[in-house]
Amino acid sequence: MKNEPWNELSPVVIQQLQEEFLDWYDRHKRNLPWRVNTDPYRVWISEIMLQQTRVDTVIDYYYRFMTLFPTIVDLAAAEEAELLKVWEGLGYYSRARNLQAAAQQIVTDYAGKMPGTPEAIASLKGIGPYTTGAIASISFGLPEPAIDGNVMRVVSRLFEITDDIAKASSRKVFDAAMRKIISHDAPGDFNQAMMDLGSSICTPKNPQCPKCPLKNFCQSFQQDQVANYPVKTKKQPPKPLYYLAMAIENEEHEFLLVQRPATGLLAKMWTFPLIEVTQEEYQHYKKTFKSLQATREEQLELLVAEEPDNYEGSPVAAHLPDTVVWQKRHLGEITHVFSHLKWHVLLFYGRAKDCELSLVSEADWVAEADFSQRVFPKPQQKLVALLDKNFGANKDS
Ligand code: ADE
Repeated sequence: MKNEPWNELSPVVIQQLQEEFLDWYDRHKRNLPWRVNTDPYRVWISEIMLQQTRVDTVIDYYYRFMTLFPTIVDLAAAEEAELLKVWEGLGYYSRARNLQAAAQQIVTDYAGKMPGTPEAIASLKGIGPYTTGAIASISFGLPEPAIDGNVMRVVSRLFEITDDIAKASSRKVFDAAMRKIISHDAPGDFNQAMMDLGSSICTPKNPQCPKCPLKNFCQSFQQDQVANYPVKTKKQPPKPLYYLAMAIENEEHEFLLVQRPATGLLAKMWTFPLIEVTQEEYQHYKKTFKSLQATREEQLELLVAEEPDNYEGSPVAAHLPDTVVWQKRHLGEITHVFSHLKWHVLLFYGRAKDCELSLVSEADWVAEADFSQRVFPKPQQKLVALLDKNFGANKDS
């Protein structure tokens, strides 16, 4: 027979666990803006933002989002650019696009009101089993588990579950265990108590077991085996990609920005022109063209009047109009980790003279004061910060 220790718990023990856990939640729950009430729209937006993003970061975004789009109908009708703008910096922009697609589905199929069954919730774009469970339990009081990585960690320790939490196929085990213990009186609080426990006490490293409200029920704690749970195979490290970024300024002090393609990573967002290079090329540029701390004027003096020989045949030279005068030094590098990719980006600065770049619609000259009107992905925000750091106060004068 399969080892399912949650099926060994008596109803009395389950009730004790629920009472002690909910009591702990009542005393310790964090005051979070999406906990003010259980409106499904508010819960939905918060849960989508909280996927892959920390609570502290989400709070400000959440307020701004709710102010701009207070209802599902507002979200459905929003301009995509405005939506992406308010999401800027949160990452995983498909989340924002899916939110809008689901809002439009809700307007069309459910008269603008979030449907109240798990099946209907799960049929909405971008809503998986976790978010379905969160909305169904918190907003509709249904005993549906909301299982994310934190909850799997807690439950694996509670029952010494050895299934690999990195595998999708393990999910049903955690689902079965959670269905057995979740409170039917307060399923939303029970799920949120799990989330809070996972982020405050039952942490990946150095869990604070003596403070845990579930310690009397926790099998790995009783067996002194907490450190062995959860079982998790290592995920592949993110694949490194190497880019040269080009901050090209024209005589009107505008910078050349390009828009990424409509599909794929960071779709339709704006960045400085980027050239992908090999790791070897990247290292070469990094070593050869060292960064320099200097004022803008000093940097300008370093610009080469004509394209220098050593740029011949280089990726930088090959991709640029010859009217650009390059500063010989790079301005430093930034890195950014996406879920499966790590970007390394080395920033160069150049001035475009008498420049009549034949711009296509996916490129534009934009003054730095107007950068805020474009949607920048995180790496681009880091590049702008690096540019400002290099030029310091000179930039503002
Ligand atoms: N993490 C994911 N969902 C959460 C919630 N509703 N409250 C706190 N942390 C969370």
